[in-house]
Amino acid sequence: MSLKKLVAGNWKMHGVSADLDQVRAIASAAQGFEDVDVALCVPAILIDRAARAVPGFSIGGQDVHHADKGAHTGCTSALMLLDAGASLTIVGHSERREYFNESNQVLAEKINRCLEHSITPIFCCGEPLSIREAGTQNEYVAKQLKESLYHLSADQLKSIVIAYEPIWAIGTGKTATTEQAQEMHAYLRSVLAKQYSSAIASEISILYGGSVKANNAKELFGCPDVDGGLVGGASIIAADFITIIRSLK
Ligand code: PGA
Repeated sequence: MSLKKLVAGNWKMHGVSADLDQVRAIASAAQGFEDVDVALCVPAILIDRAARAVPGFSIGGQDVHHADKGAHTGCTSALMLLDAGASLTIVGHSERREYFNESNQVLAEKINRCLEHSITPIFCCGEPLSIREAGTQNEYVAKQLKESLYHLSADQLKSIVIAYEPIWAIGTGKTATTEQAQEMHAYLRSVLAKQYSSAIASEISILYGGSVKANNAKELFGCPDVDGGLVGGASIIAADFITIIRSLK
């Protein structure tokens, strides 16, 4: 992604050929947003058709395997994503971490494969409710960054996007407050500044995700350290998603 501001849609397991009309509508609206990058992460099987439907628009995957090829039934490699027309992919979404047991270590390898094949990884981090209630969310998320990202050089780090998605806010209709989002985003920037440099920490794009909707996007995107959003449910209908993108302008 070339710009710091980004709104990416995560269609999860939604989307068939008939929904390409939504992809076209979103891509067409995105042309009007010159200072904001827009992307749609669609199911792997839809990437090729979506990318062909909207040349020049960023289509992404939702996961990538940590190997380039091999006996991994059902999986998709970075090379395959690229070949299908994707330019980015989500890595380490909490649903993948929870239901497919993805560890911070395996995610580090996934990020490596993405960077080797010029696929921009959107690295997801975020704490479950129990950790938020215990008040240890900063340590929890810092560990996710440390174990999945700190092997990267400064230049490599600059080519990734981070998405902070508190698990308790995903698909629940319960968003983080602007205070909670800003506090975590500023904290993430501070740990990156310490590990890398303040220049890199301020350059990197940190998205907020978790029940971002047309009616709360403006407020969340107004936080100084929130550079955009990773949007699930509200990205499937073009009109809703376009309102959200507009909120970042
Ligand atoms: P949501 O999902 O916007 O539906 O909460 C966000 C995500 O899981 O990326």
